Amino acid sequence: MREAAQPVLEVNGLKTIFRTRGGEVHAVNSVSFDLKPGELLGVVGESGSGKSVTMMSLIGLLPSPPAEVREGSVMFDGLDLLKCTPAQLRAVRGPGVGFIFQDPMTSLNPVFTVGYQLREPLLKHMGMTKAQANVRAKELLELVGIPDAERRLKDYPHQFSGGMRQRVMIAIALACDPKVLIADEPTTALDVTIQAQILELVKDLRQKLGMAIIWITHDLGVIAGIADRVMVMYGGQIAEQGPVKEVFAHPRHPYTRALLQTVPSVRGERADTLNVIEGQPPILRAAPSACSFRDRCTQRFGACAAANPARYDVGPGHDAACFWDFDTDAPRAEAPVKEAAHG
Ligand SMILES: Nc1ncnc2c1ncn2[C@@H]1O[C@H](COP(=O)(O)OP(=O)(O)OP(=O)(O)O)[C@@H](O)[C@H]1O
Ligand code: SF4
Ligand SMILES: [Mg+2]
Repeated sequence: MREAAQPVLEVNGLKTIFRTRGGEVHAVNSVSFDLKPGELLGVVGESGSGKSVTMMSLIGLLPSPPAEVREGSVMFDGLDLLKCTPAQLRAVRGPGVGFIFQDPMTSLNPVFTVGYQLREPLLKHMGMTKAQANVRAKELLELVGIPDAERRLKDYPHQFSGGMRQRVMIAIALACDPKVLIADEPTTALDVTIQAQILELVKDLRQKLGMAIIWITHDLGVIAGIADRVMVMYGGQIAEQGPVKEVFAHPRHPYTRALLQTVPSVRGERADTLNVIEGQPPILRAAPSACSFRDRCTQRFGACAAANPARYDVGPGHDAACFWDFDTDAPRAEAPVKEAAHG
């Protein structure tokens, strides 16, 4: 990993809301992070924590309405992607930022063959002839482990199984050698052997092409195995982020601690029982004015209901959004003063 390199992607103060009949849903609340060239950033968090909405907001993939990216900036290649025209964004998608969707059917077009859909970005962005694009399309299908690739290029998405469609999508996202690859739970529908193959493939491409990768997953074991850095999301915010080894060995946010306890094997202990985190994640009808984890937090105290904690540095490149300081086992100096011991 190249520590000193300039980030390839810089996200600052991103806020995304949805307008629904029941009012606004504040899905992403002031999210800031960056990504270095060649870095693999793992993103984890319970269902509804804002992982997909954050990443889709970056390159204008959310339908508006109901979504509205309300604030922030997303710097990529000298451009603020939030200020780009639809045509500029189309030019960035593919060779700039490749996206593998959580649901393959949202991005594969049912009326075109897989070969057509693989050739299209190659013709449009890579300046290839149709013959060159055909050769490359076949190579890409082989790369993601689809047998009989030449014949399968003529098939339509519905002729592929769910796992195969996911692999086709990965091939399309990789077609233009993007600088940044965003993979939203790309291997969930695949069996363990294929998952391992895809992970190897991605590691390999990252080394060969210096591609930076954002990998969203529920699987903390995968993060431990492939990521340089991990970002833990909760309630549309970053609860904690830092170098993966450091965060897993010394988690500082009660949510990260609880999440890691749900899979004890990640920390080298035996997993005899699978713990669950009591309670439900919040649906935010307004921007958070208190810690959104407090209803489920065993550590909560008076300050937690008084303000939304900022992210505090807890180690080199490691921060956590919590008023409790686990190093001194006392409230942080920045925590609002409240009388109640437990709020
Ligand atoms: N179209 C929509 N309309 C209203 N709210 C939405 C819409 N899409 C997402 N949300 C809300 O945004 C929040 C974040 O959702 P998001 O899909 O980013 O979660 P996630 O972390 O990717 O979850 P999962 O692990 O289940 O994929 C959730 O509260 C969700 O209900
Ligand atoms: S700020 Fe308070 S409620 Fe929130 S995670 Fe920290 S201790 Fe728990
Ligand atoms: Mg998601």
